[in-house]
Amino acid sequence: MKIGIIGAGSIGLLFAAYLSKTNHVVIYTKTLEQAEDINKHGIVLVKKDGKSNYNIKACPFDLWEGREDLTIVAVKQYQVKDVIERAAKINTKPNDILFLQNGMSHLKLLSKLEGNNLFVGTIEHGAYKENPFTVRHNGEGVTNLALFSGDRTSLTSFSSLVPDGFPVSLHNNYYEMLISKLIINAVVNPLTAILQVQNGMLIKNDYYYEVLKDLFSEIVFILNLADSKVYFRSVIKVCQNTALNRSSMLKDIEAGRKTEIDAILGFLLEEAQKQEKQAPIIKNLYLLVKGKENNM
Ligand code: PAF
Repeated sequence: MKIGIIGAGSIGLLFAAYLSKTNHVVIYTKTLEQAEDINKHGIVLVKKDGKSNYNIKACPFDLWEGREDLTIVAVKQYQVKDVIERAAKINTKPNDILFLQNGMSHLKLLSKLEGNNLFVGTIEHGAYKENPFTVRHNGEGVTNLALFSGDRTSLTSFSSLVPDGFPVSLHNNYYEMLISKLIINAVVNPLTAILQVQNGMLIKNDYYYEVLKDLFSEIVFILNLADSKVYFRSVIKVCQNTALNRSSMLKDIEAGRKTEIDAILGFLLEEAQKQEKQAPIIKNLYLLVKGKENNM
């Protein structure tokens, strides 16, 4: 299958390296310099048991024409708008596009792409970009995928073409799939970013754990979740399984980058407003993360 990957951050590089084992992959970068680096060095995938090198063609994003069978959008949520604007202009054929963002606020932009087959996904891998062409795979997980609109044929083909060690799980209900991940990101990411701790500390430190529980209850109230136990268990499981990891939001703050707070807590605040509900913990955490971004 011909696959285009837009975005060469940790997830874009990780997907490009693995998928190139069983597909023909082109990666589209933000800068010409990064494309040149990847064309020169290949993509280096670092795992516990060693390094491998993958020869993958890279081009700057301006050259993306949507000609591949499937395009995987692996940019941050706040960069999705640029991809959608370009996709709406490309008239070569209806595009099959998979969006891999955290949060939910990118969904309202997808309606601009009528006539395309659109998929959404969430990622449970831990990945760290060491330099423009090197990614460390430090937590092996699953990619969850679901149809958002249109026809799911290329999603099904894609799921049968992933290499060993890079599993995908197909879901029937995209909303439920994204909500489960949103809850995890809404609890873990802002708390770790503000407290500047690894994920595991949220359950190891009794005081932080109290805040985690209160925040979780407020999220349940905003999302009107009837049975919240299963979601709570998955938050705790992520804190345990990724205990030594730094969340993506903490890494963004440490690197002086914009965070995905608008897609995560911003989305929950909009939901609270629609229902005329108060969400003081979410609001304060949202403002603290925004304040940290502003200090950069
Ligand atoms: O955004 C992240 O860092 C990850 O999605 C997660 C699951 C919170 C683990 O760090």
